[in-house]
Amino acid sequence: MGGCNSFVKDAEYKEYVGKALSALSVLENETGAGNDFLGWKHLPSLTLASRLVDSCEAIRKDWLTKGVDLVVVIGIGGSYLGAKCAVEALSHTFGRSLSAKKVAPEIVFAGNNLSEDYLCEMMDLARERNVACVVISKSGTTTEPAVAFRIVKQYIEQRYGREEAAQRIVAVTDAKRGALKSLSDQEGYRSFVIEDNVGGRFSVLTPVGLLPIMLAGYDVKAMLKGALEMEQACGRPAENNPAVQYAAMRNLLYNKGKKVEILVSFQPKLQYLGEWWKQLYGESEGKDGKGIFPASVICTTDLHSMGQYIQDGERILMETTVTVNNSERSLVIESDSQNLDGLNFLAGKHVEECNRMAQLGTQLAHIDGGVPQMNVSVDKLDEFNLGGLFYFFEKACGISAYILGVNPFNQPGVEAYKKNMFALLEKPGYEEQTRAIQERLKK
Ligand code: PA5
Repeated sequence: MGGCNSFVKDAEYKEYVGKALSALSVLENETGAGNDFLGWKHLPSLTLASRLVDSCEAIRKDWLTKGVDLVVVIGIGGSYLGAKCAVEALSHTFGRSLSAKKVAPEIVFAGNNLSEDYLCEMMDLARERNVACVVISKSGTTTEPAVAFRIVKQYIEQRYGREEAAQRIVAVTDAKRGALKSLSDQEGYRSFVIEDNVGGRFSVLTPVGLLPIMLAGYDVKAMLKGALEMEQACGRPAENNPAVQYAAMRNLLYNKGKKVEILVSFQPKLQYLGEWWKQLYGESEGKDGKGIFPASVICTTDLHSMGQYIQDGERILMETTVTVNNSERSLVIESDSQNLDGLNFLAGKHVEECNRMAQLGTQLAHIDGGVPQMNVSVDKLDEFNLGGLFYFFEKACGISAYILGVNPFNQPGVEAYKKNMFALLEKPGYEEQTRAIQERLKK
């Protein structure tokens, strides 16, 4: 944590490591708030020992046999962001535009918004392709995915017939409750269960994330193995536990007035790691008038937009940079005999070396500008390391929220917008709220 040295004293950090170790023990002994939602802690080991990956593989093979080349994955929040993050991080950035033959279907996401244009454009694509659908909702009642699923289900049934539609739709939902569970039982869909004790934002290593990631063609066993290694490292009641270190430092900095944490990456493929991380930390910690506000940037592009604020704006920021040590591809900048662009000083260097120097230069500048720097690094961007990152951030989140003194596993604040939306849309049962909100809007 060298990037924090000038902001905290050793003794302060030690004190917070002590707090983090106490929080870890509350998490391990399951004695804290929300302790009925700790099923995610041992998902890597339990899932590797189960038949879940084989069941996902059976669906992948079945759909490949049918020639499916587009899978619409419907879900929102924790039922969406983990899979989206992994697919973005692991896929060729321009893969769909390349002429090479595709071996895996394209994955597109729906049900994460209520935009009519988005859904219409997604259906434009569906009409041109051989389609299947994975619908994911733990509660089975969330409005956004339910609306998207009604539209996609009707389309698939009209196009392929109801019987074949049942082979092209898979549901991931609660074992017993919710509209999606009853609908899926009635239609005879293949389905996967999200256990009661795993909350949405901690569910990427359940079928919620693993099924779409496998359908996209990626090795989920390797992902689970990476997560398992991290499960072991982050379970140690020791000062060198990486989740303890991260949770300790971010809470110490928060108490020194650093109210906003920015997750930074110099790899565009990690944009959705930032989105997943923001949901994990925002929903877990932002409550009871407390919590670090999670933000994210992708550099170097955002240095040309947010860079000014980070360097010079209000001094409430800390940054955590996720570094990928080795790039997959190699590209050297050549010398140019005319050197009209003045870039010959870079001749012979890899583009990634420039990226690394940009990162180092940025971090040093931000330290000088009063922004403490934390670092998380992985060797390369693959399934194994992504699995490790998922688990690391989840474990650190649980510890961090307990240091902060909040229940990491509920999200009472999310209900407020839903109540208003239902009242405005005149949902049965909301008559009183509808009257009240209409009166309020007249004023
Ligand atoms: O983390 C959470 O619990 C939430 O973000 C949920 O994942 C999100 O609200 C979607 O809920 P559901 O899967 O019940 O449709």
